[in-house]
Amino acid sequence: MDLVTTIGDLRARREPLAEPVGFVPTMGCLHEGHLSLARLARQESASVVVSIFVNPTQFSPTEDFADYPRDVDGDLALLEGEGVDLVFAPGTDALYAVDHATWVELPALTDRLEGASRPTHFRGVATVVLKLLNLVRPDLLVLGQKDAQQAVVVGRMLRDLNLPVTLRIGPTVREEDGLAMSSRNAYLAPEERTAAGVLYRAVRRAEALWKDGERNANVLRDALSALLADEPLAAVDYVSVADPESLNELEGEADQALASLAVRFGRTRLIDNILLGRSA
Ligand code: PAJ
Repeated sequence: MDLVTTIGDLRARREPLAEPVGFVPTMGCLHEGHLSLARLARQESASVVVSIFVNPTQFSPTEDFADYPRDVDGDLALLEGEGVDLVFAPGTDALYAVDHATWVELPALTDRLEGASRPTHFRGVATVVLKLLNLVRPDLLVLGQKDAQQAVVVGRMLRDLNLPVTLRIGPTVREEDGLAMSSRNAYLAPEERTAAGVLYRAVRRAEALWKDGERNANVLRDALSALLADEPLAAVDYVSVADPESLNELEGEADQALASLAVRFGRTRLIDNILLGRSA
């Protein structure tokens, strides 16, 4: 496995890689969720490239950019074990000029859900993913269903900008009690960690109601809100039952839906989701 930190070295090591090339962008501090995406990329590609870059432009000034967990040595050991061919771990200066002025924005998909409380987040995500795709030039891009809105936003960008990249979405990898793996789980105090189990209970409730034939989006939304209201440590940011492509909130009967939620436990904000009536 090669590690490169500059654009020049990336270009040199990317060139001879066997095609098709699969690419997994990450912000590091890797866990099983990330590794599952590298495995998915491996299954469908001759070479796998992973990037580790804590992208400053997707954090607002009040968010945890400076404190975002970093463990490059640990990450490299894990990626080596997955048979990754090339790791791109640039510094901020390598990707952003001080007078960087170009942004990719998808306002129709990003004024809601995660974007409602993080107004510049997806502009940063879309821009850095496009930059990374331009540098790595993969055939396959692998993202996780854990960040459902991110997957929809990036998918739309690929289509709208005619990028020659196939998008694969890997299923959410969970802890033993069902909590979706996230580097932010480490911020939870023990009683918050226990309370966070309510997120997966909500996801499972949505799935069970759907399997029982419940198709009314308002009924589903109310059921999830009621379940979350029973957990005193959970401060609900949103509960959404939306169209999986437009991300518009659904009213009444639905034939497919993305049920998603964001909940704060103390200072830690966690998200989870499930696609209903459609596989990930
Ligand atoms: P990061 O949070 O590091 O996540 C990298 C990828 O791993 C994303 O596609 C995310 O959806 C996926 N992922 C995270 N937790 C997962 C889990 N429990 N199961 C399955 N997949 C999981 O998302 C980002 O970084 C950034 O926004 C990035 C796309 C790299 C752009 O900066």
